[in-house]
Amino acid sequence: MEKNIKFILNGKEVEVTVHPVKTLLKVLREDLGHTEVKAGCEQGECGSCTVIIDGKIVNSCIFPVGQAEGSSIITIAGLCKEGELHPIQKIFIEEGAVQCGFCTPGIILAVKVLLDRTLSPGDEEIREAVSGNLCRCTGYSKIFSAIKKAAVYMRTKK
Ligand code: FES
Ligand code: FES
Repeated sequence: MEKNIKFILNGKEVEVTVHPVKTLLKVLREDLGHTEVKAGCEQGECGSCTVIIDGKIVNSCIFPVGQAEGSSIITIAGLCKEGELHPIQKIFIEEGAVQCGFCTPGIILAVKVLLDRTLSPGDEEIREAVSGNLCRCTGYSKIFSAIKKAAVYMRTKK
């Protein structure tokens, strides 16, 4: 049976009437038009559907929307402020860490959660932070250098 489910999406309250076991990924894309959240494997393996829920990284393709009731959800679109890209986004572009771009929203959100926790992440922490996000294009080295550069930039801007 369908239910009304309310949550905060990129800072604004939204309400949807859907079956609570429908995945958050499908609700975001099909019911709310947030196609910036990418649908890849839809089995919790690739990380392309990553969103931040209450400060934690979640694979939205395996997250029933009923569990989102009352939570605060951020998609990659929520990182832009007044049309300005987040520094992590800008540095990913500058460093050439984006190729096809399919993995990029998920990876950048994973990096955001990492850098919210520490602006001096070690190599192991960086690897761990993006370990759930598969990239078929870049070979990861540009992604790693972008993450390190973003950490330095955000540390010095604090
Ligand atoms: S689409 Fe969700 S993990 Fe792959
Ligand atoms: S840039 Fe294509 S999958 Fe990562």
